[in-house]
Amino acid sequence: MSTAPNAQRIWDHCEALARLSELDGGLTRVFLSKEQKAANELVLGWMVEAGMSARLDAIGNVVGRYEGARPGLPCLMMGSHLDTVRDAGKYDGMLGVVAAIECVHALNVNAVNARARRLPFAIEIVGFADEEGTRFNATLLGSRAVAGTFKAEVLDNVDKDGVSMREALRAFGLDPARIGAAAHRREDILAYAELHIEQGPVLEAEGLPVGVVTAINGATRCAVEVDGMAGHAGTVPMSLRQDALAAAAECVLAIERRCGREPELVGTVGKLECLPGAVNVVPGKVRFTIDIRAPRDAMRLAAVDDVLGEMRAIATRRNVQLTVAKTHEGGVAACAPWLMEQIGAAIAAEGVPVRELPSGAGHDGMAIIDVAPIGMLFVRCEKGISHNPAEAITLADVETSARVWLRFIETFDPSRKP
Ligand code: GLV
Ligand code: MN
Ligand code: MN
Repeated sequence: MSTAPNAQRIWDHCEALARLSELDGGLTRVFLSKEQKAANELVLGWMVEAGMSARLDAIGNVVGRYEGARPGLPCLMMGSHLDTVRDAGKYDGMLGVVAAIECVHALNVNAVNARARRLPFAIEIVGFADEEGTRFNATLLGSRAVAGTFKAEVLDNVDKDGVSMREALRAFGLDPARIGAAAHRREDILAYAELHIEQGPVLEAEGLPVGVVTAINGATRCAVEVDGMAGHAGTVPMSLRQDALAAAAECVLAIERRCGREPELVGTVGKLECLPGAVNVVPGKVRFTIDIRAPRDAMRLAAVDDVLGEMRAIATRRNVQLTVAKTHEGGVAACAPWLMEQIGAAIAAEGVPVRELPSGAGHDGMAIIDVAPIGMLFVRCEKGISHNPAEAITLADVETSARVWLRFIETFDPSRKP
């Protein structure tokens, strides 16, 4: 084994990234922001310190490469995302990027000292520019670009200030016409492996620091607009109102009811905007989002159908107009058994029981699976809290997970790929 990864440096790097935020006293870092530019600079520097060549790709992903025994070999791709939700935790995404860099750092220290740790494959680490979809109502933008599945129509999506993705890319110094250059060829990626906090309570409940992911649940997201009729709050009788918010409220409860019917199904309305938004005006327009997920595609698609049918009935009864646009549709992404086995073997070799579990959260692997088999290592987080500033992990778990991850890299055997 190489020198152990430096857990304290992983911790410090997560702290350093958490300081790059548009939110005072909290963490918000969105796609193509000046905070992202600063984060990219930091990560590029750490990659170089770890012995990698490093660059920004055509969508703003940070890409580091550590060559194998000879230049140009196919790579084991690793990494995670560097963007965050609003008022985020410090580890969702970032931990996977900095832990992978630290593993390469450990390999490189040995390569320099003992000239022994060049592997029979290259390692590429990607800090994806957008996974969360916080800014432009479109998700997995960085990983889709790498997988070659980026859809040009999302370039016209606008953020809350009316800035289009196309304009934001230009302002960032990137050319929207060149996004295709970020795509990798299938034959250049042996596999994609991501370390991520669990974002759920299972590992903590079982007293385990890490686990092997079996699959990433599928997700459907929609943007909904309800058009009613704005009016005077003092004069329009209740029976004559076309209140867009009251209709939306019924829809929210219908989603909660339907998704609460099956234990593995989840449905969320996470964003809702009421217009014109005044104390004395009947709401004329409401926009809201829907996010429905499940470990089986049929279960998710049936719930989406039911929910949309019920929403249409609510709109008809309340005499409001409903417009629904699908903003994301991602099927269940299964982790490759041969990668799960190798990740499990690395966990066992560190003396930790091997626990397999599915991921309720979405990850970059959902996009990368179009171009490479995927595998994931989950790290325990406190009370399973995530997408919340209270997200917490321990230094001991960082150390254990980084050791597992380095062992996985050192023992990675691409010849087992079917
Ligand atoms: C990303 O974190 C998602 O699961 O929405
Ligand atoms: Mn997230
Ligand atoms: Mn994440």
